[in-house]
Amino acid sequence: MKILVVGGGGREHAVIKALKRNSNVTKIYALPGNGGIAADAECYPIKATDLDGIVAFAIDHKPDFCVVTPDDPLVMGLVDRLEEIGVPCFGPRKNAAIIEGSKIFSKQLMQKWGIPTAASAVFTDPFAAEKFLLNCKYPTVIKADGLALGKGAVIAHNIEEAEIAVKEMMVDKVFGDSGARVLIEEFLSGPEVSVLSFTDGNTVVPMVSSMDHKRALDNDEGLNTGGMGTIAPNPYYTEEVAKECMQKIFMPTVRAMNAEGRVFRGCLYFGLMLTADGPKVIEYNCRFGDPEAQVVLPLLKSDLLTIMQAVREGRLTEDMVKFEDGAACCVILASKGYPQKYDTGYEISLPDTGDGEDIFVAGAKLVDGKLLTAGGRVLGAVATAGTLDGAIERAYALVEKIHFDNAYMRRDIGARALKAISEA
Ligand code: AMP
Ligand code: GLY
Repeated sequence: MKILVVGGGGREHAVIKALKRNSNVTKIYALPGNGGIAADAECYPIKATDLDGIVAFAIDHKPDFCVVTPDDPLVMGLVDRLEEIGVPCFGPRKNAAIIEGSKIFSKQLMQKWGIPTAASAVFTDPFAAEKFLLNCKYPTVIKADGLALGKGAVIAHNIEEAEIAVKEMMVDKVFGDSGARVLIEEFLSGPEVSVLSFTDGNTVVPMVSSMDHKRALDNDEGLNTGGMGTIAPNPYYTEEVAKECMQKIFMPTVRAMNAEGRVFRGCLYFGLMLTADGPKVIEYNCRFGDPEAQVVLPLLKSDLLTIMQAVREGRLTEDMVKFEDGAACCVILASKGYPQKYDTGYEISLPDTGDGEDIFVAGAKLVDGKLLTAGGRVLGAVATAGTLDGAIERAYALVEKIHFDNAYMRRDIGARALKAISEA
């Protein structure tokens, strides 16, 4: 089978490596892929947002199946376009991907169907938003409606910060049209959990839970990033919490999407906060998380392609999706300066990996046979083990064997999770 994977980050590398475990897979094309992914797939320089280019590639190369993982092409309707020309896809259609593409859509969906989330108000006019801020409780959260590279949520500690956020989004349009409408929402607190799930629109099968580390610096300080590391499973996500989430959040969401005529088939990502009032939805994503996929997929015992085909064909069952009992840790090696300005072009040397170790490359290119850094997040070093502390130790040991100049990482990936385990 020939598989086409759209995207070119660490998440896509993890997806490709998981797909390759199926012996029926004879070829994988990655658009655009990257210099590290090139070791596992044929990469072509077509951007994930170049829908016409991808469709033309699919007509030429006739893949048997396509996996679309980044948010933009999903929200833009790539799956609809590929299905139209007869390429079966894993990933939601445009009318379902809106669950991530518009935070106002998803908020209204939750409000309408009684799915627990932060209270909020919608604004299309900056003056009305600023007036509302006068009587807000702080901190408060300001969110751009549309996609904003993961930077569309601002926690404002006082009215001055809130006014700046509203002005940047609505007046200066730093996120373009994504900030034309904003949500101002109640600040929630509690541990955060990422739960990726497979759903075919009827059945929802949650994957092993995970924890992202979004801030750039140790102790969750510094700027928000795309994610500096992950661990799985998330110790805060107990069986009891899982049961409650299935009942109050996961099933109601899938049913609500069906009732709205927006059947969701693909990976539905629940970003949850476990508040004192129970679990609440912080955000939905219409795709695998990055770097959540890098810890979840190495723990998947079942065959990923088989699951993806069942999702596409609406015949997913719980027993198709099995995970290892152990734990996994992913430490991101980034370019110093990320998420702001950073230099690239440094040569990367990678060690051989052993059993239960993986290196998923995110920002690198091949130049004359050399792998050079080419992005903010360069790669993820991933290890699995029987226990979380074992996985963390192995991931950091693997990091020590990877070299490039100007590298930066957090030293405390998983530390909070270990503390939670020791306090339980
Ligand atoms: P989002 O872009 O919606 O994923 O938000 C990014 C991050 O902002 C989340 O991972 C949370 O840490 C934080 N956040 C978002 N919404 C809230 C909220 N209502 N209360 C507290 N923190 C939030
Ligand atoms: N790691 C968070 C995300 O993929 O949105």
